[in-house]
Amino acid sequence: MTAKAKGLQAPSETYETLMKVSWNFNYESQIAKLDDLYQRAKENQWNAAELAWDTPIDPASPIIASDHSQYGAMPWFQKLSRQQQETFMAHSTAQVLSQFLHGEQGALLTAATVAHGVPDMKAKYYAATQTVDEARHVEAYDRYVNKIAIHYPMVPWLKQLIDATLQTNNFCKVMIGMNMIVEGLALGAFNNMYRQTEEPLLKAITFNVMRDESRHVSFGHVYLTPTVAALHADDREDLAEFAYQAVKILIDGQAAPMDAGFLKVLAVSGIDPEDFMAGMQEAAEMGITRELPPGQIHSVKDLMMPALVRAGLVTARSKAKFEAAGIPVNADLTILNAMEDRKSELNVLNAQQAAY
Ligand SMILES: [Fe+2]
Ligand SMILES: [Fe+2]
Repeated sequence: MTAKAKGLQAPSETYETLMKVSWNFNYESQIAKLDDLYQRAKENQWNAAELAWDTPIDPASPIIASDHSQYGAMPWFQKLSRQQQETFMAHSTAQVLSQFLHGEQGALLTAATVAHGVPDMKAKYYAATQTVDEARHVEAYDRYVNKIAIHYPMVPWLKQLIDATLQTNNFCKVMIGMNMIVEGLALGAFNNMYRQTEEPLLKAITFNVMRDESRHVSFGHVYLTPTVAALHADDREDLAEFAYQAVKILIDGQAAPMDAGFLKVLAVSGIDPEDFMAGMQEAAEMGITRELPPGQIHSVKDLMMPALVRAGLVTARSKAKFEAAGIPVNADLTILNAMEDRKSELNVLNAQQAAY
């Protein structure tokens, strides 16, 4: 895999936001579990530079084999030439990995924002470790994406969702947008990538990143659940409305027309976008995309919605809005509980079992 998708790198961008900064001269935490999370964050640090970066990636052996992919069983994919199949698998995987890379940069920005704004001292400590974690994740995915030499731009809805989060000037909303919604999405996506790929370097990166992300999702719960419970109902409603709007950006984005990056994937693979759409429609009608394979996690249903419900961030009013938008409010915590950080490093593997 050496082809480069050139000319797609977005220019750097800056914008101004209001930044709430909170000093706190009470060095005690108001939430006992935060210290436990912070201690584990320090104990579970790892060095991305020490992974086996010299692992050769065999161009004849795709990062995701087509029989592990959602596309492999679809008639339109099976009708492609072998070379088209290989090119499409390589570039569509690179497009997904590019989203991981850009999303990690967004997480670095939000984690630093939380460290500034959150008043609880141990929450500041924790947000500082998350900022380091996210820097390491950017480092690892940047290096991997460079190694496979195929770069794709950030999909517009993911950028819009993280920008909406960064622009709130409310650390609770930043944590809802990142630690519950984007990281709920990421945890499911990393789990699914971990199961789909046999490429050892990507498997190692994903395993390590997933363990950190499970802790980040736990931080959202440990901090926000008691904080939201103590709020005035009007303030809780304001957060619930933000959560609804953020999930809606994600759902609408996933249903939006293909972005420039994915159109490029199709172009380099010699696939007409209309043929692709018709093929996906046909596969959906055959039921191929309706059920995820065993062990694959549906981020919105299994992670994001239960996390919002548990934290008191779905009110009667916002529940009605979710349902009117066709987004079921699932409160079953089984998979979320299994994925979140526990004392053992085996929690990620345990979650793989629970997902069946
Ligand atoms: Fe991350
Ligand atoms: Fe994270």
